[in-house]
Amino acid sequence: MIQRPKGTKDILPENSYIWQFVEKNSKDIFRNYGFEEIRLPVFEHTELFQRGIGDATDVVQKEMYTFEDKGGRSITLRPEGTAGVVRAYLENGMASLPSPVKLWYNMSMYRYENVQKGRLREFHQIGAEVIGTGSYEADVEIICLANRLISSLEIENIKLTINSIGCPTCRKKYQNVLREWIGKNLEKYCETCKDRFEKNPMRILDCKEKTCNELNKGAPIVLDYLCEECKTHFDNVKQMLNRIGLDYEVDGSIVRGLDYYTKTVFEFIDEDGLAILAGGRYDGLVKELKGQDTPAIGFAMGVERLIEILMKKQIELNIPKPCIYIAQIGEEANIFATQLVEILRGKNIYAQKDITGKSLKAQFKYADRIGSKYVLTIGDIELKEKKANLKDMLTGNEETINLDGNSAEKLIKYIKVK
Ligand code: HAM
Repeated sequence: MIQRPKGTKDILPENSYIWQFVEKNSKDIFRNYGFEEIRLPVFEHTELFQRGIGDATDVVQKEMYTFEDKGGRSITLRPEGTAGVVRAYLENGMASLPSPVKLWYNMSMYRYENVQKGRLREFHQIGAEVIGTGSYEADVEIICLANRLISSLEIENIKLTINSIGCPTCRKKYQNVLREWIGKNLEKYCETCKDRFEKNPMRILDCKEKTCNELNKGAPIVLDYLCEECKTHFDNVKQMLNRIGLDYEVDGSIVRGLDYYTKTVFEFIDEDGLAILAGGRYDGLVKELKGQDTPAIGFAMGVERLIEILMKKQIELNIPKPCIYIAQIGEEANIFATQLVEILRGKNIYAQKDITGKSLKAQFKYADRIGSKYVLTIGDIELKEKKANLKDMLTGNEETINLDGNSAEKLIKYIKVK
């Protein structure tokens, strides 16, 4: 038997309801915050991610699904959504729209990761991007939105952690300090980290190798090297969060794994230390992708990680059950039942009938298993007499329904009146 590739998941019908619940909840929240949906291609030119996410990141160096298409172009399955959103923003002239442009997405992502708890190779992100403002108020609004997505699902023990990783100006100073600090033990780091030492030492701080992780403990933090502008921006964000009463912790060790981040970064962490949602400001990305200098901020929520938590909670899901099952026996009754379910379905009623040739007894059993509210039984004799038996499956009450004239209308009135 062919099995699904490692790091992928099948979302079976019983779980799809929890997905629909999360998706509907997020969609409503995005609308209330003034965000509009964007849908993008699953694959992009590899260069977009190399330029956007950064050559020295784990994502670009180790985790991308990259291949050459039949035309010899290098193509990559999207490992994240932000670079694609900015590409689409520029390509479709969205810079001329009223600013800021607020977009949300729900998309599958692909990363060739070491598969473990919370780390898949195909996963989904529900994300949001605000393009066109560098204000600290935008940081606060996007953090509020992220917080609402999580708190609306009543998930407990999720902690909001924030940090500032500065801008290219303050980072230059910080990188020198960091190089000096890491340099003392450089020979003990993994080969990838050694390679990153000159190019981008900050990436060494989020290396997933255990030894590097240990070595990184106690490293200088970028927060201590912020320039005046970045410091004021971060102070304003914190102050506003305090004033509106949103709890957070400052964690100077957050560096994020993608190169485009500037200033405010944040993560919503669960009890096991896994990030359920993460994001930050990326003021240089639009320019990096050949647009005008345009500040932006956003986040993405890991849907599988969130659903894993929700599955442990008893949440009431809206699982649809058939309103009526038409059990039939005999050729004419079969035709009549087929016409009847078609009319009912056309009137937005969830109706089922047998399509496998089951016995009447087996049809009843099936109707019960799928949780149908009513079962209408029609045989050729009943048809001739223009009546049928309607059973309320919950109470067990049975009544004879007159099928004379417009039988569908009569039935609809009857089951709606009940
Ligand atoms: P990220 O931190 O790489 O950021 O991913 C965001 C979230 O996606 C993570 O916090 C996690 O919940 C989920 N996630 C990431 N990798 C995996 C995986 N292998 N398996 C399951 N879930 C995963 C970004 O992708 C940025 N584009 C977020 C952003 C938007 N920043 C600004 N705008």
